[in-house]
Amino acid sequence: MDFKQEIERRRTFAVIAHPDAGKTTLTEKLLLFGGAIHVAGAVKSNKIRKTATSDFMEIEKQRGISVATSVMGFEYRDTKINILDTPGHQDFAEDTYRTLTAVDSVIVVIDAAKGVEPQTLKLMDVCRMRQTPVIVFVNKLDREGQDPFDLMDELEQQLRVQVCPMTWPVSSGATFKGVYNLYEKNLNLFVSDEKQTIAESVNISDLHNKELDEHIGKFADKLREDIELVSGIYPVPDIPAYRAGKLAPVFFGSALNNFGVRELLDCFVDIAPTPKTFETEERTIHPQELKLSGFIFKIHANMDPNHRDRIAFLRVCSGEFRRNTNYLHVRLGKSLKFANPTAFMADKKSVLDEAYPGDIVGIYDTGNFKIGDTLTEGETIHFKGIPSFSPELFRYVENADPIRYKQLAKGLEQLTDEGVAQLFVNQANGRKIIGTVGALQFDVIQYRLEHEYGASCTYQPMHLYKACWIEGDDKAEMDDFKRRKWQFMALDKEGRDVFLAESQYALSNSQEKFPNIRFHFTSEF
Ligand code: G4P
Repeated sequence: MDFKQEIERRRTFAVIAHPDAGKTTLTEKLLLFGGAIHVAGAVKSNKIRKTATSDFMEIEKQRGISVATSVMGFEYRDTKINILDTPGHQDFAEDTYRTLTAVDSVIVVIDAAKGVEPQTLKLMDVCRMRQTPVIVFVNKLDREGQDPFDLMDELEQQLRVQVCPMTWPVSSGATFKGVYNLYEKNLNLFVSDEKQTIAESVNISDLHNKELDEHIGKFADKLREDIELVSGIYPVPDIPAYRAGKLAPVFFGSALNNFGVRELLDCFVDIAPTPKTFETEERTIHPQELKLSGFIFKIHANMDPNHRDRIAFLRVCSGEFRRNTNYLHVRLGKSLKFANPTAFMADKKSVLDEAYPGDIVGIYDTGNFKIGDTLTEGETIHFKGIPSFSPELFRYVENADPIRYKQLAKGLEQLTDEGVAQLFVNQANGRKIIGTVGALQFDVIQYRLEHEYGASCTYQPMHLYKACWIEGDDKAEMDDFKRRKWQFMALDKEGRDVFLAESQYALSNSQEKFPNIRFHFTSEF
């Protein structure tokens, strides 16, 4: 197979959902259909068990297990599919945001009864920022759910994307009969008490055919009405609009019952985008370019004290990645080669010899990498679109052991490089501030500083509403702002100006008084 064909046959995506909607179950079923695993339960859940939410060590252990399932590759219908797993726990939301920088599309799982939930909204905001193509899977139809028309309205309004049903449910819950495939014109019948079986499918090209009544009885007329309405309201599938992130095809099913998953996977393979182009500060990178380029989107530290290595995850954007070949680490200006780059195939890891655009390579790292780092064959480029998001929780961090000051500084530097949290320095008092999206990270940092760097820290509470990056074209105005707000000014690790807003009022008041200053909520602007 030539290089171009290798690229064309790759589909790299993430399954995203509000916790409990069925992300893990669906991922597993996709792997089952893809033949990558043979029994349900083979893939360790990346979900952090609810009982363990206060015990971060337990969480880290579970995260450790999930390294193997961070990326799950498998072959299906001559296609190489890479599923990137995302942590379920909302305290690790930033990990998920970053993973979304490395995919070409996403599948969003929605619980039919609960509809769009807060975490779904946040994740969709990130997808919208990048125009990531989205397919929606409405799950748990075997339970009593919302009316499908109401649900479609909710999806459209809340996710702010035009929706286009591909299948349509016949009832739900105890009377769930199955789904009608609007384009293949067949009815997939749901057999409720035979879990794990693949449903029977009947061709019904004409809905007025009496056969429909035989299969679904009193629900036949309702389905006829529904389908008439559906064809009047919703657009037909438009692949370019989907690939531009403007239209989301919607499937209905039940992941737990294997129902509707094959339709989803088949359609996904047909329409999902192949590896995309990426923007760098210097130029656009096309996957077909022969020279390698890629960036690190995730770093996973090993919590096991006997194995201090970390795995950095590289998304290949162009060219071919080869084992034992020298590549330029752009930020360090250093040439590096990798003896044991890792490929992830479902629940197994193996050493890879080559990888293509769309693939994810796991690189064992001893501290060379930070999130956003670029590897090339010599060109100096910097990938865009790997922002940090405005953190929501803040604490001052203090050194608790004066003679180990250096260890603390190094630990904080490296942990924040890994993306565990963000580090700011308050300009008024020189104190270091840690900003996170989840409370758990404070415990993670304290523990890891002690166990990996021999440093100890304490935290002081800090009440902040948001930290945002500020920018302005008029130097005098910027200086004026900084002078007036001197108590609330900080620098991030890259030395950029950050405004620490104490309250929503303080922020909107500043925005009003300084209309020419731009306040950014992600680090990339
Ligand atoms: P998540 O990764 O999005 O957090 O969700 P996960 O797949 O773990 O699913 C959450 C719960 O919903 C699980 O039940 C799972 O079995 C159930 N579930 C997933 N798909 C369906 C479906 O189609 N129908 C129904 N009725 N339930 C579904 P749990 O009791 O929390 O966990 P478990 O003990 O079953 O693993």
